[in-house]
Amino acid sequence: MGFSSAVNLDALCLLFLPKAAALPSIAAFLLVALTVLWFYPGGLAWALSKSTLPIPGPPGMVLALSGPAAHRDLATLAETRKATDLMAFSVGLTRFVVSSRPDTAREILNSSAFADRPMKESAHELLFHRAMGFAPFGEYWRNLRRVSATYMFSPKRIAAFGEHRSDIGQQMTESLMASMEKNGAVEVRKALHLGALNNVMMNVFGKRFDFGKGEGMELEELVKEGYEVLGEFNWSDHFPLLRWLDPQGIRKRSRRLVYKVNVFVESLIDEHRKRRQVNRDSVDNGAFVDVLLDLEKEERLSDSDMIAVLWEMIFRGTDTVAILLEWIMARMVLHQEMQSKAQAELDAVIGNSRLPTDTDIPNLPFLQSIVKETLRLHPPGPLLSWARLAVHDVNVGSHFIPAGTTAMVNMWAISRDVRNWENPDEFDPRRFEEEDVSILGSDLRLAPFGSGRRVCPGKALGLATVHLWLAQLLHKLRWIPVEEGVDLSECLKMSLEMKHPLVCKAFPRY
Ligand code: HEM
Repeated sequence: MGFSSAVNLDALCLLFLPKAAALPSIAAFLLVALTVLWFYPGGLAWALSKSTLPIPGPPGMVLALSGPAAHRDLATLAETRKATDLMAFSVGLTRFVVSSRPDTAREILNSSAFADRPMKESAHELLFHRAMGFAPFGEYWRNLRRVSATYMFSPKRIAAFGEHRSDIGQQMTESLMASMEKNGAVEVRKALHLGALNNVMMNVFGKRFDFGKGEGMELEELVKEGYEVLGEFNWSDHFPLLRWLDPQGIRKRSRRLVYKVNVFVESLIDEHRKRRQVNRDSVDNGAFVDVLLDLEKEERLSDSDMIAVLWEMIFRGTDTVAILLEWIMARMVLHQEMQSKAQAELDAVIGNSRLPTDTDIPNLPFLQSIVKETLRLHPPGPLLSWARLAVHDVNVGSHFIPAGTTAMVNMWAISRDVRNWENPDEFDPRRFEEEDVSILGSDLRLAPFGSGRRVCPGKALGLATVHLWLAQLLHKLRWIPVEEGVDLSECLKMSLEMKHPLVCKAFPRY
């Protein structure tokens, strides 16, 4: 026993001694190699890729994406590195490119090579890979786009929900007036958010909620927690070794949330199933859930897929609309002359003996320009929310992009670029009286809904809602700043929000 352990010890020494002696040189070699890789343009993840001609970009690791002003930090980096066409950077082992120019943005958004989205751990845990926004490009995703384009986002369906939209807008206006009377000032955020949530719930489940109690309160909490979990920057997405540690507790929170969401949404689906068994005709109010329940066998979704699809609609359709309207109202309070011009237009088209309706919107070009100008300066998704993923090797301009690279478009930088817009930082909706610019994805100087195959499918519904509610809010009330004025500071979470909720005064106009 003693003999064999001596032999083993000797063998071990023979095995390790030369290596131990070589350790300092191995460590030195590794250190030099790491330093060289670290200083490679675009950083470590690009140095490890098969790309041979470097794309300009900062070395090391960019931390901007974890901060509240990623769109601004990336814009500054791209300018200083002279990489507005395309800039490479790394976060952990993830390779990124970001475009801050319309030409390369068009190439990325319209190329079939970028038809997928990178999957965040939180989105996967929340089952969003089975919903439209994160589903891989393919038959399942195509089917969801087709069904929702026909039954949820078609012009006919949007028009059919006009009355509900108008009721909710009216209710919102009244609650803001009541709050003004009670407090001498109004904070608009909560009313807009709950209005937008009810509007989506009406579209998806044909049902409105009373918030602040019971089911309504539960829904409010689920949506709030969802935004927080999805909006949080997760280091585990970029450092695979961190994944099993879940250092920020994001996986744990996602799993807790998805369980509650499943129970909540499933009970709403069951309500519809039961009503359909009793009387099919009584449920035909066009709710999207009924469309999904009616799908033919080969297209039918499993219950868990249906929950994912419906939950995503609630999620996507709520904060974009509410946040955009809060920015618009902030601009209206700040630019009194623009507010007066919009109100003069409303008075000429509608007068004060009736309320605005959807059919008035085409006759209110200045009101539409206000929405465009706010989308230009404060796009809810400044980095177009959820990025794209290169599914195969591809070139953007003269740059080679290997498969697996995450591609982003900095729409905020593009729409504030003096090369694309005169006086870009000035709020001036009149610029669209001189030049009619489409915001639906064909003109990449201003594409707040994205472009190409994965362009926002809810853009017409979102715009119809924002236009009508803005018309209602400006028609009924005059909006005035409080003494402290308006603070336009931003904070990028899942969407680009006002850092401090807008507080102002509102007085009836007639
Ligand atoms: C002001 C309102 C809105 C804005 C600014 C907005 C913006 C966006 C953007 C930038 C994208 C990514 C596009 C791309 O990758 O090219 C997107 C995707 C999406 N949006 Fe919207 N959106 C709005 C309203 C809505 C509404 C009301 C809904 C539904 C009720 C909705 C549902 C979706 C979905 C499902 C996707 C994913 C599409 C896919 O990947 O195929 N959005 N949106």
